[in-house]
Amino acid sequence: MTSCLGWSGQEMKQGKKGSELSSDIEKCDSRSRSAGNTVGNRPRLYSDLAAWFHLLTAPHDYQEEAEFYSDLIVEAAIGPVRTVLELGSGGGNNASHMKERFTMTLTDFSPEMLEVSRRINPELTHIQGDMRSLRVDHAQFDAVFVHDAVTYLTTEEDIHAMASTAAFHCRPGGSVVVVPDHVWESFTPPYTENGGHDGLDGRSMRYLMWTTDPDPTDSTYVSDFAYLLRETDGTVRVEYDRHVQGIFSKSVWIDALTKAGFQTTVQTDPWGPAPVFCGTNRVG
Ligand SMILES: C[S@@+](CC[C@H](N)C(=O)[O-])C[C@H]1O[C@@H](n2cnc3c(N)ncnc32)[C@H](O)[C@@H]1O
Repeated sequence: MTSCLGWSGQEMKQGKKGSELSSDIEKCDSRSRSAGNTVGNRPRLYSDLAAWFHLLTAPHDYQEEAEFYSDLIVEAAIGPVRTVLELGSGGGNNASHMKERFTMTLTDFSPEMLEVSRRINPELTHIQGDMRSLRVDHAQFDAVFVHDAVTYLTTEEDIHAMASTAAFHCRPGGSVVVVPDHVWESFTPPYTENGGHDGLDGRSMRYLMWTTDPDPTDSTYVSDFAYLLRETDGTVRVEYDRHVQGIFSKSVWIDALTKAGFQTTVQTDPWGPAPVFCGTNRVG
């Protein structure tokens, strides 16, 4: 979504009327819907605005969550877990805590987000790749972890492709832990969320996220974001972003992991409204 600017603080200052702004957002919508979350059409948060990611969601907020997912990874595996591959590792927030227990290899399709993660995880291996097609040659890990990035998969085919990627990289008896933001059974849009952080470098961010499901009959929903970005010189601008995400029933996740070769269980997630899907790669 790099080229899809939506409305900006500059446009507001120049006096664009509401109708003009909404027509810009409309144009943006039709492009993002038709293209989906392909490599060339990513949310701005993962491309031109990636440098703001840790001010939207800060690494230190992930400690307990990362501990919980690490425990699930170990419990689902047969034998010790030393190496973990993360698909869609984003800003490396979970990894910044999980690396205390495991040797983490981080992958994401956004080069900008890999750069953001490298800043807080310089000692870890980072690989650019799409979780639907990534194949790291001769690499098998004790576990594969897929956090909220999996929510950007918008078709059942994508979910199956991600499960195959996980199985390809997981040793026999190894585990997979998959954490979508939502499942169909407990998804209750619309809702809003706000937050943000003040950075040590003098920059600050506040955001409003508005999640809606324009067409409940399809497998996507959208989160529209307004970002207020304060630079070190005190100037503040507003940026718009749209994230198109996938919504599926529990059975779709279970089916995909089971078909890929995992013995699958469903765990309650104290950190979100959706369950966590855990699997053990069937030996032999
Ligand atoms: C919310 S961020 C993940 C943050 C991560 N949980 C953390 O701990 O920092 C979502 C990430 O998913 C990535 N992503 C989306 N679709 C992807 C795909 N098909 N393959 C790989 N990465 C993907 C985006 O580039 C983005 O970096």
